[in-house]
Amino acid sequence: IHVAVLMGGWSSERPVSLMSGEGVAKALESKGHKVTRIDMDRDVALRLAEAKPDVVFNALHGAPGEDGTVQGMMDLMGLTYTHSGLATSVIAIDKELTKQALVPHGVPMPGGRVVRSADIHVADPLPRPYVLKPVNEGSSVGVAIVTEEGNYGNPIAKGVTGPWQEFDELLAEPYIRGRELTTAVIGDRALLVTELKPKSGFYDFDSKYTDGMTEHVCPAEIPDEITQACKDIALRAHQLLGCKGTSRSDFRWDDTQGIEGLFLLEVNTQPGMTPLSLVPEQARACGMEYPELVEAIIAEALA
Ligand code: DAL
Ligand code: MG
Repeated sequence: IHVAVLMGGWSSERPVSLMSGEGVAKALESKGHKVTRIDMDRDVALRLAEAKPDVVFNALHGAPGEDGTVQGMMDLMGLTYTHSGLATSVIAIDKELTKQALVPHGVPMPGGRVVRSADIHVADPLPRPYVLKPVNEGSSVGVAIVTEEGNYGNPIAKGVTGPWQEFDELLAEPYIRGRELTTAVIGDRALLVTELKPKSGFYDFDSKYTDGMTEHVCPAEIPDEITQACKDIALRAHQLLGCKGTSRSDFRWDDTQGIEGLFLLEVNTQPGMTPLSLVPEQARACGMEYPELVEAIIAEALA
């Protein structure tokens, strides 16, 4: 089949998407498929129309691409594409909308509130420690953990720069001490739980994409009850949001609190497909090699 691999674009996760896209394209070529690589620019509709693929593999991360805009365009063009559709993407890219969609169904997610970044200079939005994150970024872009001992002052003094400053609106959430867990869903199956152990600091952009900076423990060495809870929540979130193909749910677990300490942070509808990425790693641990994973995602789109 002829697959257009849509990648790049102009979100802050462009470099990650180029790595995902290239991995996907090479895997498809190794399986004998025809591949057209499309680095998304403003002429993306024209380029897709010219390519006339049987299916588009959406390897975009961040907005636009993970946020429904590109999905809506492809709907209008009558194209078949991988991963989630418009409505799911609009909700899942926005961490606050995701909470509004999932918490009423009993999915445990941290509290917190949306704040204007200018207001953070006036007062701490929550008791410390708390996390500041853009509502709709990926790969930990713009995330800061504000601690009691942090060098940000109290409240964060005017003019003090931080990764949040680029964004007008931020989500402030209580910081959950403990452990970083993640679970992939493919089709109707939650795969495994991976624990991420960054060698320094938190699981930020560098820890995510620099080989050797984070230890991946897969399957995670955690109680069966927590493993099962992660898998149940990931599958339920995938289904409640109407995700397609694959998604990856990220968790924090305060291991001093048992099951009560487990919180879903977010659902990624376009999870990374780079060599260091977690969905391919969990698939491999379940006996599915990378090219078969890519083909499975495409098969669901074509079904
Ligand atoms: N946002 C990155 C690509 C991920 O979730 O894997
Ligand atoms: Mg994310």
